[in-house]
Amino acid sequence: QRLVVLVSGTGSVMQALLDAVADEAFGARVAAVVSDRAEVGALAIAEEARIPTAVVRPGDFPDRRTWDEALARTIASFDPDLLVCAGFMRLLGAPVLSRWPGRIVNTHPALLPSYPGAHAVRDALAGGAKVTGCTVMLVDEGVDTGPILAQAAVDVRDNDTEESLHTRIKAIERGLVVNTVGRMVRDGWTLNGRVATLGQPRH
Ligand code: GRF
Repeated sequence: QRLVVLVSGTGSVMQALLDAVADEAFGARVAAVVSDRAEVGALAIAEEARIPTAVVRPGDFPDRRTWDEALARTIASFDPDLLVCAGFMRLLGAPVLSRWPGRIVNTHPALLPSYPGAHAVRDALAGGAKVTGCTVMLVDEGVDTGPILAQAAVDVRDNDTEESLHTRIKAIERGLVVNTVGRMVRDGWTLNGRVATLGQPRH
């Protein structure tokens, strides 16, 4: 199975996937890493691992739709079976969502439906949460609203900062992403529609 990983940042979650696919038994390889931003840590990690990379920057396109279409074409050029967003900080539009229905996985550093959006860790702290965590879900047209595939809880400590809490969450999140993607690759979760029994789509 061919994975294409979408990134925007340091790539620590992506790194965990790279480590996992090194084991043949995992059953997949990372065909490419695609970023919406140049010069990010995730691209350096991918290049170091000799994995093809591509950068598709919104600023290089006249509007949202042409960026979505360019992103879809770029991803398609690597012929993926599964897309994994690992710290990708953009919403995916119809040109991407419609091309790989049920086969785009994202990870979020909170227990959805709590704290969706781009500042989940900060919001959980501000909300006084005593327990938060991470979620692996399918991507749909909403913001962090797709069917949930897996979750793991992380306790919030009194002296936590956004950084200390996010660091602890990411340590758990890396394992959750690897385990979930591994099961999807080996069990064909979303390829035979079984996702419906895993994360009930919310109405
Ligand atoms: C992860 O916590 C992910 O859920 C969030 O951004 C973080 C990615 O970090 N969207 P990195 O770029 O993989 O280090």
